[in-house]
Amino acid sequence: MSKYTFTSDGPLTGRLRVPGDKSISHRSLMFAGLAVGESRITGLLEGEDVLATAAAMRQLGADIEREGEGAWRVHGAGLGSLLEPRGALEMGNSGTSTRLMMGLLASHPITATFTGDASLSGRPMNRVIDPLSQMGASFEASSGGTLPCMLRGAAPAVPINYRLPVASAQVKSAVLLAGLNTPGITRVIEPVVTRDHTERMLTGFGAILEVGEDNGERVIGIHGEADLRPCDVIVPGDPSSAAFFIVAALLVPGSDLVIENVGLNPTRAGIITVLRHMGGSIEELDPREVGGEPVADLRVRHSALTGIDVDPAIVPSMVDEFPVLFVAAAFAKGTTRTTALEELRVKESDRIAVMAAALTGAGARVTENEDGLEIEGTGGEPLRGTGNAPVATHLDHRIAMSMAIAGLVSANGVQIDDTAPIATSFPTFMELLSGAAV
Ligand code: S3P
Repeated sequence: MSKYTFTSDGPLTGRLRVPGDKSISHRSLMFAGLAVGESRITGLLEGEDVLATAAAMRQLGADIEREGEGAWRVHGAGLGSLLEPRGALEMGNSGTSTRLMMGLLASHPITATFTGDASLSGRPMNRVIDPLSQMGASFEASSGGTLPCMLRGAAPAVPINYRLPVASAQVKSAVLLAGLNTPGITRVIEPVVTRDHTERMLTGFGAILEVGEDNGERVIGIHGEADLRPCDVIVPGDPSSAAFFIVAALLVPGSDLVIENVGLNPTRAGIITVLRHMGGSIEELDPREVGGEPVADLRVRHSALTGIDVDPAIVPSMVDEFPVLFVAAAFAKGTTRTTALEELRVKESDRIAVMAAALTGAGARVTENEDGLEIEGTGGEPLRGTGNAPVATHLDHRIAMSMAIAGLVSANGVQIDDTAPIATSFPTFMELLSGAAV
């Protein structure tokens, strides 16, 4: 456990570059590991979650080598030819690695056991166990459908049409990945659109997908027994990591910061829409395409924010950004209301309860509801801060980084109980933060 107190350190200025997108990084290693031949990845996020995916893909027979900073070479094992892992697949803190790899293995004749840290071992896996069981895989999970969990894949698996009961890109991706090695067409019906990196990237690796609409719902069909070919992937910067610096620059007086190479896929960029709606000055410079994803540099200037009612329809496109939005709301003028956030309760921590406690502890006025928070902002005045009563981050990287940003605008600073989890998604966070605030 390493405690740290974040305090005001002057405006954020200059330029910085956030690491590669976590969702795209996981998928690049998995899909390259399934293709026959060699793929190269540049801009890979070298955070612990992604390294857990790399280690697991190696255990399944892929040859994966780091060639330089963010530069990786993958020689795939081939779809249908994955090896049975010798030991347990250790997934650390990473829900994405676990759920997507359960999908991958569900249609291979393989038995594997998944384990994780205390946070991951409390998270629900039935959301993937249910559809993958319908496809023929079998599972022995710990009580309540949690890790450790043993999976026995089916060969051949059976294709299904699956309508997502929760808006989850992880569940969608698990079913589509199982469909890759399943005869026929496996379909996922998405009542609410979630991040679409799996669909975009699998097409690049040569899979055949049909994306259509039925009664206002998105339908994605994947043709099974696919032939995946290698593909070089350039990973754009992670908008979820950029969000911490966007909010920091909006809140700290005098800031004028350029964040380079930020992925702006519309299924991910909801936080920018909401912060602009609150009065945030966020300008897109040099919009371009990187690795099939829209990207721009963002110029962010200190702004007076106003509280708003956040439209529940935007939730899936910013599901990971609510902790830091709550911080922005705590400094806005007036009240910010958020609803439809039930999914936040089953992330790396219960992000509604944990952020309510953390912000209240720092002096903010917060009301916790079942499905969201109502936050009465200070109108730009600093919060009191936590002094020496550390924020409990519950092994949740995004809680730690969000409250770090709150510390920059709190009179007594904000102490975090443990900064170690930050390395799961953003190993350079502390370094970039001290470099930007000069
Ligand atoms: C992710 C999907 C989201 C998100 C997670 C990454 C992905 O989870 O919270 O950080 O890469 O597919 P859900 O799909 O479960 O909402």
